Amino acid sequence: MKILISGANGFVGSHLANLCLEKGDEVHGTIRNRSDLSNLDYLGIKEKITLHECELTDSSNTEDIIAKLLPDKIFHLAAQSFVPTSWKSPVDTLTNNIVSQVNIMESVRSFVPNCKILITGSSEEYGNPIKLPITEDHPLNPVSPYGVSKVAQDKLGCQYAASYNMKIVVTRAFNHTGVLRHESFVCASFAKQIASLKDGEIIKVGNLEAIRDFTDVEDMVRAYYLALENDKIKFGEPYNIARGRGVTIQSVLDYLIEYSGKNLKVEQDPDRMRPSDLKELVGDSSKFREATDWHNTIAFKTTLEKIYNYYKI
Ligand code: GDD
Repeated sequence: MKILISGANGFVGSHLANLCLEKGDEVHGTIRNRSDLSNLDYLGIKEKITLHECELTDSSNTEDIIAKLLPDKIFHLAAQSFVPTSWKSPVDTLTNNIVSQVNIMESVRSFVPNCKILITGSSEEYGNPIKLPITEDHPLNPVSPYGVSKVAQDKLGCQYAASYNMKIVVTRAFNHTGVLRHESFVCASFAKQIASLKDGEIIKVGNLEAIRDFTDVEDMVRAYYLALENDKIKFGEPYNIARGRGVTIQSVLDYLIEYSGKNLKVEQDPDRMRPSDLKELVGDSSKFREATDWHNTIAFKTTLEKIYNYYKI
């Protein structure tokens, strides 16, 4: 299969590229001008995939790449994915996330209509839940520009599938983390700080009361791969991908400190608090599991240990 991964150098993109190579696919990736390629280097795959410089918000640039490659599958991962940045830069977040996807779908529609596309939505689309665990029919009430951008991506994916009969799979991923996760996200932020601190020093944290449902990135990319491989998956319908078990951010902190064996002080940093934060996100992914037999294979504690050890070096 000829695969195109948008944002192939990113956290999820690089893990997915690695998996596609293991499956024997021909892997292409879009990157931006002067993108950091260290994730691909770390995984030892920079020379094994073909990278294309592409500004996805530019329609002709996107069209050129897709018309030239004619891929069988596109995993659209490129996005502004950090929720707090979306309050600081709402226009960039909305433009990047929505316009890029429309450019990809329009190019596919014109040049390679049989190409399958994976759209990566988010549990942030649901907002504060009115029932748990969250199923796909839960109302969408996002509380951040990021969440709104993901609702737009999700709904546009469904609309293109319905209007043009395109092979578009829409996923709503709950939190995922692992080695190479950028340090701005909670597990990596805590692990990196703890790894560099000495006994008695202070770790900075944000809202420890939030509850999130974490999956290891390696399990998440397996789910994405299955989403475009499995014939039971329906185009133009959303699928939650989640472990189905919530943990408090406090317990993430406690476990990482305990694992490090250090004696640290904890301090809330006002800059890490958000204008609005979702209290609890726990997903029901039965629909996806029934179609694909996907299940989590990596315990969350193992994931946290891997992240900590990555930063300890
Ligand atoms: N980043 C960060 N840093 N978050 C903190 C901190 C901290 O120091 N302290 C507490 N938190 C809390 C946040 O307020 C939030 O409730 C939770 O930890 C998780 O924060 P993030 O890791 O930044 O992830 P997120 O939940 O905002 O978004 C992630 O998951 C989404 C799926 O639910 C991202 O990966 C999104 O791109 C993804 O769509």
